[in-house]
Amino acid sequence: MILQGKTILIANISGRRSTGWAIAQSLSKHGARIAYTYQTERFGNEVRKLFEPLDSIDLGECDVTSDDDIRKLFERLGNEVNTLEGLIHTPAFAKQEDLANDFVNTSRDGFKLALDISCFSLIAFCKQALPFLEVSGGAVTTLTYIGGERAVKNYNVMGVAKAALESSVRYLAADLGPKNIRVNAISAGPMRTLAARGVKDFMVMHEMAKEKAPLRRNIETSDVGDTALFLSSDLARGITGEIIHVDSGYHIIGI
Ligand SMILES: NC(=O)c1ccc[n+]([C@@H]2O[C@H](COP(=O)([O-])OP(=O)(O)OC[C@H]3O[C@@H](n4cnc5c(N)ncnc54)[C@H](O)[C@@H]3O)[C@@H](O)[C@H]2O)c1
Repeated sequence: MILQGKTILIANISGRRSTGWAIAQSLSKHGARIAYTYQTERFGNEVRKLFEPLDSIDLGECDVTSDDDIRKLFERLGNEVNTLEGLIHTPAFAKQEDLANDFVNTSRDGFKLALDISCFSLIAFCKQALPFLEVSGGAVTTLTYIGGERAVKNYNVMGVAKAALESSVRYLAADLGPKNIRVNAISAGPMRTLAARGVKDFMVMHEMAKEKAPLRRNIETSDVGDTALFLSSDLARGITGEIIHVDSGYHIIGI
């Protein structure tokens, strides 16, 4: 029960296949109370049902492109708790055409949207979460992919967004470290979730990762859940600004 007595906000969860839900289960098993949010009511019904048996706080909808939505989310959080010991950040999005066309054809709009949802939202959330996290220190964890480090076919503008996200992790870690707030990212291997379906030829990527990875298997969302548990706990108290690969070792392979 390494998270007993701690409240952790997960922003956000889309349903039973989402990485956010796997993380919620890992954290909850170890005693955490989970405050959760979802993008729209389209996800709300399923997500609320998942959380029914858990010690949790439903914070309702939040579109991370809206400063107002983010501010109101933290107002609702403030009505329930005064402190947070952790924040898990999962939003990511890019337009379908930007994940299918040649990268050189990325539109200005598509670029802005992908970076706004997939990267800036982490900064915006950290800013609003700061008064809650600085009370007793805490851990912020976000999710990234190797497409932020290398050029991965069809990942395109999402790779650029993940590179910016990973850089933001380092800047936030440097900024918030003196307040005893750690900021890290998990670089996950391909997992069959809702977001993954948007990437063209995702299943080809999924199979290749399995064949080449040292562990010769794809990762499960629960592998990420348990790493998020470690990073959110005091066991990881000396780790910040880090990108931890949970990808069966795929990232170490050359040809
Ligand atoms: N699935 C994979 O193969 C994989 C691999 C590495 C990293 N990741 C990362 O894991 C994270 C979670 O993705 P997932 O695969 O679990 O899929 P997912 O679809 O469950 O998660 C993506 C989330 O982004 C949210 N989102 C998108 N636009 C939003 C907006 N405007 N406002 C609020 N929320 C918004 C969706 O509602 C959803 O909850 C993402 O950051 C993704 O890039 C996924």
